Formats: sequence, C-alpha cells, structure tokens
Amino acid sequence: MTRYLITGGAGFIGSHIAAALRARGDFVRILDNFATGKRANLVAALGSEQGGPLAEFLEGDLRDDAAVRRACQGIDVVFHEAALPSVARSVEDPLTSDDNNIRGTVNLLLAARDAKVRRVVYAGSSSAYGDTPTLPKHEEMPGDPISPYGVTKFTGELYCRSFARVYGMSTVILRYFNVFGPRQDPSSPYSGVIALFCRAAVEGRSATIHGDGEQSRDFTYVDNVVAGNLLAAERDVPPGTVLNVATGSAVTLNQLVSTLGEITGRKLAVTHGAPRTGDIKHSLADISRARKLLGYEPHVTFRAGLERTLEWYRSSAPSTAAPKTVPSA
Ligand code: UD1
Repeated sequence: MTRYLITGGAGFIGSHIAAALRARGDFVRILDNFATGKRANLVAALGSEQGGPLAEFLEGDLRDDAAVRRACQGIDVVFHEAALPSVARSVEDPLTSDDNNIRGTVNLLLAARDAKVRRVVYAGSSSAYGDTPTLPKHEEMPGDPISPYGVTKFTGELYCRSFARVYGMSTVILRYFNVFGPRQDPSSPYSGVIALFCRAAVEGRSATIHGDGEQSRDFTYVDNVVAGNLLAAERDVPPGTVLNVATGSAVTLNQLVSTLGEITGRKLAVTHGAPRTGDIKHSLADISRARKLLGYEPHVTFRAGLERTLEWYRSSAPSTAAPKTVPSA
C-alpha cells in the first residue's frame, strides 16, 4: 500500500487531499504546526480513524529537522501543502514568509531525500508568473514573481527542480491558481477573496473590493486541485516538471460579486478600497500541459464550486469572528 505524507494536512487544501486519500482507504500521515491549519479540519481530513493505523497526525513545524525526518519515515509520496499563504501577509512581513516557505521546503526535501521518498508533489503558486502581459500563462514563461509570497513559492519550485537534478529526486510542481472551496478560512485578514466574500454574503455584510474589481483570477475549485494532485502522484512525468492546475477561464471580482448575488438571490453590497500592493491584474492559466501529461480535467465549474462553497459557509457561519482590516499600503 502506498503511504502518503501531507504537510499542512490540517489546512484548507491539505485536508481535502487527505480526505480523498482516506476515502479510497490509503494510509495518510499529516504534519502540521497549526500556524494556519485547524484542529477541526483533522476530523474532515482523517475521519474517525484519526490516530489509527491508517491515519496518523504529527504536530510539528517544517523547520524542525527532527519532526520532518520523523514525518518522512516509511513514506512513499509527499504532498507538500504546508506554507504561510497570502500576498498581503508577505508584503507586511517578508521574513516570516521566507523562513516558513523556503527554509521549510528545503528541510522537507532533505528529509524526503534521505528517507528515499518515491515522489514529492509540491504546491506551487500562480504568483510565480507575476504580472505578465501575455495571457494565458503557460509553464514555459519565465518566473517573475512580484510579491515576496510569490518569490517564496517560486524559490520552493526551484529547489524541487534542483533536488531532481542534483539528487535524482522525482519532484513534481503544481502551480495552483487561486484555489477556493469549503474549509478555506474566512476569518483571517489574509483570507482568500472568495472565502471573505462568501462569508460577507452569508452574514449580510458588505465586502471590500481592492481597486475597481476588474482584476481577474482563474479561480479553481478545490476538488479540481485534489484531482490534479492524485494524478501527479501516480503519472510518469519527468522529474522537476512544472504544471498549471487551474480551470483555464478567468473571472473578475465584479463577476464574482454578481454570481454570488445570483446564487443567494440577494445583491452583495460592496465598498471599494485602494488597490493592494503586490497585487497582479490578471491571472489565467493555460492547462494544456496538465491535460497532456496528467490527463487532468477540471470537472467542477466555477459556478458549481461557488454554490458548494457558499453552502458550506452557510452551514458553518456562526462560529467565525469578524476579520481585522489589512492595511492596503
Ligand atoms: C495569490 C495567488 C494564489 C495563491 C494565493 C495565496 C496570484 C494570481 N494568485 O492570490 O495562487 O494561492 O496568493 O494566498 O498571485 N481582494 C479584494 N478584497 C478582499 C480580498 C482580496 O478585493 O477582501 C482582491 C485582491 O486585492 C486581489 C484578488 O482579490 O486582487 C484576489 O486576492 P486573494 O484572494 O488574496 O488572492 P491572490 O493574492 O490573487
């Protein structure tokens, strides 16, 4: 039986990958330090068997050498999801993003190398592309991140490619494009825009658009990202391959707001603030490489994903506190 380690498995995307693996009966170990992950997500990730022979949880930090080495013992495939997300957070505090995301990744790669892990699937980010004028963004474009967050995720990719070349490790890099879905935390000032807007819609509050709302994103429902990961773990792809995981269609924030209004039957009130520093204007993926090499297909549409996501926020709304304001400097 293949044994999987998910770093950041108590987080949003990691918990969905874990749940999919457990649903098919696979062994899953999670390493998480709860920096942004939640204990409540472990229930969804590992089910009632948490702590049993097929569902292990280790609390630990990626920068803790002993913890990471213990986590990699006996593992065949690592899904490396753990990171401090958010462009805005990285603009505020680049050093902390750097330390978690870059040093944490190098530490993990070293431990995976020494434990003879068969494959490492790395959670890359569309932010690696920066604000290229050419759309859609394809993997042959040079990396040119704008935000410190983008630099950390891109540097992690380079390490994955380096470890493929230097140590012969089988690493695969998936560049996620603005992932959304159930369990994405809506309570942090650094939360993703869909999480924030869904919660505003559910609570009947107004949402803030940074800028004119004409910026666009290739918003990708989390089940599509899980599917990409499961394929990336199994398919025969050259070590160090970079693949976009997205939908191949872009939605503006203004379109997001109107779609939310259509689904809820009530227009979402918005206010406008200054554009956010480090933001890019448009993000749209070319997904032909993932289609060709992985057989990847984004089966859940933006609209269907948004409906499911909104439903989840409706059913979990009361427990979350109001977000603090992020300076948009
Ligand atoms: C970036 C990456 C994404 C990554 C994420 C991790 C790009 C294109 N995308 O997302 O792949 O997963 O970081 O954090 O680089 N906004 C508002 N109001 C709000 C919140 C956000 O208008 O209350 C705007 C932002 O200014 C931005 C857009 O919504 O223009 C999306 O923001 P966000 O959800 O934070 O994601 P990105 O920064 O695009």
